[in-house]
Amino acid sequence: MIIKQITSSETLPIRHKVMWPDKLLTYVKLPNDQLGKHYGLFVNEKMTAIISVFITNNEAQFRKFATLNEFQGLGYGTLLLQNIIDLLKEEGVKKLWCNARIEKTKFYKKFNLRRTNKVYEKGGIEFVIMERYFK
Ligand SMILES: CC(C)(COP(=O)(O)OP(=O)(O)OC[C@H]1O[C@@H](n2cnc3c(N)ncnc32)[C@H](O)[C@@H]1OP(=O)(O)O)[C@@H](O)C(=O)NCCC(=O)NCCS
Repeated sequence: MIIKQITSSETLPIRHKVMWPDKLLTYVKLPNDQLGKHYGLFVNEKMTAIISVFITNNEAQFRKFATLNEFQGLGYGTLLLQNIIDLLKEEGVKKLWCNARIEKTKFYKKFNLRRTNKVYEKGGIEFVIMERYFK
């Protein structure tokens, strides 16, 4: 298993397949993808999980975090997110945040991300902003 940086284009097939399979591929592109850093977790050279990180004013947002359906629940998402958290801490980032799907809040709590009171809905899915400050 390895984790390495990838291009934004390389994230698109997994983003699409896992998150918005009923939309067009272009729906999963982000306007600021070029400004982000993108990481893939590879199992036997197969890209299995992805995450994208955007840093503004020393605050990092992660987006489009996804593991291929058939590989979910095996610990790959945890490995990838923990790796990114370690990396961001080393870089001296002061805050990590994300727009979390409501059903994922329990998962993110394990990484010490806390729910804020900012809740909204997009594409029929409810989201809440979660955040963590690094010391
Ligand atoms: C969120 C997501 C990326 C997590 O990836 P993942 O690879 O499934 O993550 P993990 O396998 O590390 O953890 C998933 C669950 O399996 C559990 N798990 C991890 N390893 C395990 C193991 N060896 N045995 C049993 N359970 C395990 C974890 O505790 C976790 O449980 P929880 O959801 O109840 O907290 C994945 O669910 C996904 O792609 N979802 C669809 C897209 C999405 O919703 N993205 C996030 C938007 S906010």
